[in-house]
This record gives sequence, C-alpha cells and structure tokens, in this order.
Amino acid sequence: MEKLLVKGGRRLEGAIRVGGAKNAILPSLAAVLIDKSGDEIVLGNVPRIRDVLLMVEILRSLGATVAWEGRSLVIHTRDLHNFAIPEQLMREMRSSVFLMGALLARLGQVRISHPGGCAIGPRPIDLHLKGLGALGVQIREQHGYIYATCRRLMGTDVHLDYPSVGATENILMASIYARGVTVIHNAAKEPEIVDLQNLLVAMGARIRGAGTDQIRIEGVSQLHGVEYAVIPDRIAAGTLMMATAATGGDVLLEEIIPAHLESVTAKLREAGAQVREENGRLRVKGLERPRAVDTLRTLPYPGFPTDLQAPMMALLVRGSGTSVIMENVFDSRFKHVDELRRMGSQITVDGRTAVVKGVPNLTGATVTASDLRAGAALVLAGLAAEGETVIEGVQHIDRGYENLEGDLAQLGADIRRVNETG
Ligand code: EPZ
Repeated sequence: MEKLLVKGGRRLEGAIRVGGAKNAILPSLAAVLIDKSGDEIVLGNVPRIRDVLLMVEILRSLGATVAWEGRSLVIHTRDLHNFAIPEQLMREMRSSVFLMGALLARLGQVRISHPGGCAIGPRPIDLHLKGLGALGVQIREQHGYIYATCRRLMGTDVHLDYPSVGATENILMASIYARGVTVIHNAAKEPEIVDLQNLLVAMGARIRGAGTDQIRIEGVSQLHGVEYAVIPDRIAAGTLMMATAATGGDVLLEEIIPAHLESVTAKLREAGAQVREENGRLRVKGLERPRAVDTLRTLPYPGFPTDLQAPMMALLVRGSGTSVIMENVFDSRFKHVDELRRMGSQITVDGRTAVVKGVPNLTGATVTASDLRAGAALVLAGLAAEGETVIEGVQHIDRGYENLEGDLAQLGADIRRVNETG
C-alpha cells in the first residue's frame, strides 16, 4: 500500500506550473463521443490522473480508440458501438454519469449502473434524470442499472432545482443534436462548463451562455474533429496556494487563470496571505501563522469552491483565532476533521458547520485520506506540522492530483511516496 511521508516545517518557495483541469477533461472526454464524423479529435493539457485513466478505459470499452501523445489524447470514435458503461468502471467513478448525455446524443441509448454514493455524500442524480426526461428520454431503472433511450431528443426548457455541475453538463451534451432549441435555466456557472461549451462549439455545436445561469443550445445535425486544450486546474492551483500559505512560503503559480480563483484569493488574503497577480500568474506569500477567517461558506461558482474547503481547513487549523466553515454543497464533506484532530487540531462539527479553533502548532501523526480533497488537506497539514506525518489512502489523492508530492518537493517540501507492503 502506498503512503506519503511528510516532514513538516519547510517553507515552500519557487515556481510551479499547474496542469489541466480534472473537472474539465472528464466531461470533455464524454463530449468527444458525440461527434459521429469519424474525424480525429486531439485534447491537450491532459493531466495523467487516475480519473482520466479510468475515463480512457471507458471510452475504449465503448469502441473508441484513444492514444496518449505526450500531454495530449488522440481520439477516434468512428467505431463507437457499445452503449453500456462497464459496471466496475462506473462504480469507481460516479462522475462518469455525464456519459449518459453524450451517448444518448450519439447512439440514442445508454446503460449505466446506478452510481453509488461516495465519501462526500449520497451523490443523487435526480436532476440529471429529470432534465433528460424533459428532453424526451425514456428512463428505466432496474437491477441496479439505469437504461435510457430516445430516438430523437426534443429541445425544450429545462429548469434545474439546483445548479448542479454534472446535470448541467449532461443535459447540455444530450441536447447537441436535439430538434429545436434547449435552454437550461439555473445552470451551473463553473469555468469547466464554459470550457465544455468552447470545446463543443469548436466541434460545430451551437451553444451560448455557459458561465451564466442560462445556457442555450440549438440542435445541429453534425459535428467535426477538433484540436483543443483544456483549461488549467483551479482546484489544483488553489491547493498549492493554500500549501504556500500554510508554510509561510513564497510561491509563483504559472499557467493558471487568476480570474477562476477570485473567491480563493479573497479568502487567502483574509487569512493574512499576500496574493499578487503578475502578468497572468499568481504570487502567494504566507504568514508565519495564518489569521482566522470569520466565516467560510462553500457555494456554487463563483462562490468559494467546495473542493477547496478541506485544504482551506488544513490552513485554518493553525489560524490565530476561530474560523467557522459552512459546507453548503455536499452533505457530509468533513471526513478530514477526525484526521486533523489526530494532529492536534481543535474542530467541532455540527451538521454542515465546522468551528475551527486555531492552535499554534500541529504534530505529525499517521492519518488516512477518505477522499481526494480530504487527502490533499492532510498533506497540507503535514507540511505545517512538527515531526513526521504518514498519509495512507494515497490512491484517493492520485484521482485528482497528477503529482502532488512531486510539485511540493519541487517547492522544497520534505515529502516522499513509499510503498510499504501490508
Ligand atoms: C462536480 O461534481 C465536480 N466533479 C466535483 O468535484 C465538485 O465538488 C462539484 O461539481 C461541485 O462543484 C466533476 O466535475 C467531475 P453537483 P458533481 O452535481 O457534478 C447534489 C472533486 O473533488 N445533486 O454540482 O457531482 C449533489 O448531491 C469533485 O474534484 C443532487 O442532489 O456536483 C451535491 O450535494 C468532488 N442531485 C450538489 O448537488 C443531482 O442530480 C452538487 O453536486 C445532482 C447533484
């Protein structure tokens, strides 16, 4: 079993480039299946993370050919024939649910196994199914599978009860060839949805409004090939910004889009960090000890991202005061709290609210990652703790960070991956 060993106390310094966005490349890998022209599609700036490898396996199982060329994926989907997502792969990555929209557009049918919950909550897909139903899709759930079929989707108005990222992406992809116009109301506004729109428009789709709460899709009859590079990963960037603030460091982040990180920058400044934009890059300088922040609320974009709630908590546990964190997006995204307590943090949780009473020092301990971002939070806490921290459950971190320990080591952290059997 692989573990990360972190010896705390090192300030992070230097410059680091941030890779392509996990939450942009995953829907993009579904979107390319919609094109039936047989043209070649090249996606660039692709992070080599576990979820991407899983998605590549799913595409191959459906009949697409996918080849790595450096940091790009070269994809041909002419021979796409299979509409059933392999159960094992689906269960490993619930976000593959947005393959439904793409396969309904391409093949008129899809079978997925009901995506289980995961460490951050039940993760229902009712908004996805309701939206697809509005487009005329027949949906049958039995024996743990969801079968969806539709000969020709009909454009319509879809009102989302909640601005779900995945549901917005699923409905957007399903409507590409639909008859007439589809408008998604109360759509999610994340940058990754703008990226998905830009990719599909570059393939010949007619979409506008991504980034606002209303997205308009006019059905077309065909798409064509494209070469497209996905946006940088704002969550990976935010994680490194918080690691810098947690160690009192001084780091320059390159190949990022500062506009995607405005809520994160504002909160880090509130916590005493200096964040300066230097021609498209962000320079972050941390205090010896961060300040507390009155309240941190996670919200849909452009609010503070839920994916950075755990890393931000790992910073605030050493804050000079008490911070209140409210997790408004997921039901139970505080699995990292028990592990942070093992390192000396003082945190009390009541439902979706965590009260963090800052302590001057953390002590290293053996801790376990339960999900991707909780794992990142434990690494950040280890960087600032006295002594050594052993982080188990590294496979969770590998789902969304291409080389977290490599990036941190490049910035001066004493961190390494060990493979201890048993
Ligand atoms: C996407 O998940 C991201 N994943 C998540 O990142 C991110 O945390 C989330 O958006 C919010 O920003 C990918 O893009 C692959 P949602 P998604 O649908 O689409 C509820 C990470 O760490 N909901 O916006 O699943 C849901 O239970 C991951 O990179 C319904 O109730 O998020 C949750 O409470 C974690 N019914 C809330 O909405 C539905 O049909 C937000 O979910 C759909 C969602």
